[in-house]
Parts: sequence; structure tokens; C-alpha cells
Amino acid sequence: MTAPSAGPPQAGAHPLGGSGAVHRDRGASDLELAIDVRGLSKSYGNRKVVDGVDMQVATGRIVGFLGPNGSGKTTSLRMLCGLLTPDAGEGKVLGLDFRRQAAEVKRQVGYMTQKFGLYEDLSIRENLDFIARLFSMENRKQAVDDALERLGLKSREKQLAGALSGGWKQRLALAACLLHKPRLLLLDEPTAGVDPKARREFWDQIRQLAQEGITVLVSTHYMDEAERCDELVYIAYGRVLARGTAASVVQEAGAKDLEDAFVKLVGQATDNYSEAH
Ligand SMILES: Nc1ncnc2c1ncn2[C@@H]1O[C@H](COP(=O)(O)OP(=O)(O)OP(=O)(O)O)[C@@H](O)[C@H]1O
Ligand SMILES: [Mg+2]
Repeated sequence: MTAPSAGPPQAGAHPLGGSGAVHRDRGASDLELAIDVRGLSKSYGNRKVVDGVDMQVATGRIVGFLGPNGSGKTTSLRMLCGLLTPDAGEGKVLGLDFRRQAAEVKRQVGYMTQKFGLYEDLSIRENLDFIARLFSMENRKQAVDDALERLGLKSREKQLAGALSGGWKQRLALAACLLHKPRLLLLDEPTAGVDPKARREFWDQIRQLAQEGITVLVSTHYMDEAERCDELVYIAYGRVLARGTAASVVQEAGAKDLEDAFVKLVGQATDNYSEAH
């Protein structure tokens, strides 16, 4: 695996191969890192909102990205997919220099924004077709048909996106970010406000995608979703406080469960942050 953290204090087990992970048969290629970035930082004004984050995610893994509101998750995800320029940080995303080859990274990453970003006055099919055009995809119709089929959207293809419930909107958003066959998905709170059944179906999709070799970094505030991840990265005040499997994070924090672990971790971080500022 990679070099130890150069930045903030980091607790928790090693993100790769930690005990308690969801084990599946893995070949040599599984040891490759889809994300291998160190020292990711971003300031707005004089406030560092992402402060030396290291992120390593092995190919085909599902890594949960957790942290309180305003802790820097969205900012980090946007830097990793090449949409936002970091102040500092080096490394690779999908084997590409994520800063110097940001345009190529963008083409190979599927990014699902925290807020629904599609056109509410276009139908499901029209939205997907529009995105396929943006990516200048060949076989556009086939790609759209495949995405509709995969996400169970075929029977609703003519419905306006704006008329969909939260769960269906989220499926459409996932279909949209899968269209160009990305190897890495960066999903920003994809299930916020979605009912439990739709969330479960969404996670079944995510697991299926991971089994096909797609790597997933997903932010969430839901503890049941955190439990479904192979590994977790927990940040507060822009710094990684814990990483590893859910079991190892709980154990390291001396907590009774994940929620308890995060409450403890953020409590300590808040004390430290208040002292320093
Ligand atoms: N464009 C911007 N200009 C100024 N400050 C910003 C900007 N974008 C984000 N911030 C600030 O950076 C901090 C981190 O924001 P970010 O959206 O990354 O947090 P988050 O962890 O995704 O939070 P949430 O869980 O609420 O989505 C917040 O304090 C936010 O107000
Ligand atoms: Mg966010």
C-alpha cells in the first residue's frame, strides 16, 4: 500500500485489507489503487476547508466518505474528479495525474452531485440523451437504452424528470453518471432524502457495479450505508480522523457502534480545533 499520511493525524486501520472488510475473491489487479492522492488541500479565503487529506481507494472497493456538514466532503470529491483545482495535493486517479490530466480524469469518472442537477423539464430519456451528446458518445441510442434498462427506468422514460419522486430522481442521476461507462464513481450523498426501500435498491446497484470492477467513493450521513461499505474515511474540519473498516473504526475509537465512534471523534476534533483557532 502507500506511504503513511503526511498530513493530519490519522487514526484507524489501514484502508486496504483491514480485518472485518467484506471479503470477495480478488486477483492481483485488485491491489491497484483507483485513487491514490496525498495532501489534498483547499482554502476559501483564509479558511482551510480541506486540509491535507490522503485518499487511497483500491479498485473495485466501495469506500464511504463520512463527516459532519461542512467538513469538506463535497469539496474533496470535486477536486478528485477534476472539477475544482486544489491548492495542494499530488497523486493519481485511475492512474492519471489528477491535477495535470484533469480533463482525462473527468472523462473516466462518474460524478453524482449532491443536488439533483439534471433538467427537470426534460424527460428521463431526453436527459440521458442530452448527456450522451455532451460526451460525444457513439452509439448514443444504445447507451441510453442500456442505462434505462439497467436502472429499471424503461417504463418511465417519457416522464419529466421534474415530476419524479426522490428515489426515481436519484436512479436517473445514477443512470446519467454511468452512461459513459466510468471506471470510478464519486457519489455525493446519493440517497439523501430517499426512502429506505429505494436506498436499499440503490445500494444493491452499487454493490453490483463494484462486483463488475467499478470503484465507488460515496459520501453519506447514514450509518446503515456506512456499514455497507468495504472501508470508511471519516473527516471533520477538512482532516481525516479515522479510516478503515467499520469494525476497526469502532474498535479504535473505543466506541459501541459507528455513530458513537463518530460522535467521539468529532467531539475530540472540535476541542482541538477550538484550541487552535
Ligand atoms: N465555493 C465556496 N466558497 C466558499 N466556501 C465554500 C465554498 N464551497 C464550500 N465552502 C465551504 O467549505 C466548507 C466545506 O464544504 P463542503 O461542501 O465540502 O462540506 P460537506 O462535507 O460536503 O458538507 P455537507 O455534509 O453539508 O454536504 C463549508 O464550510 C462550506 O461552507
Ligand atoms: Mg456535501
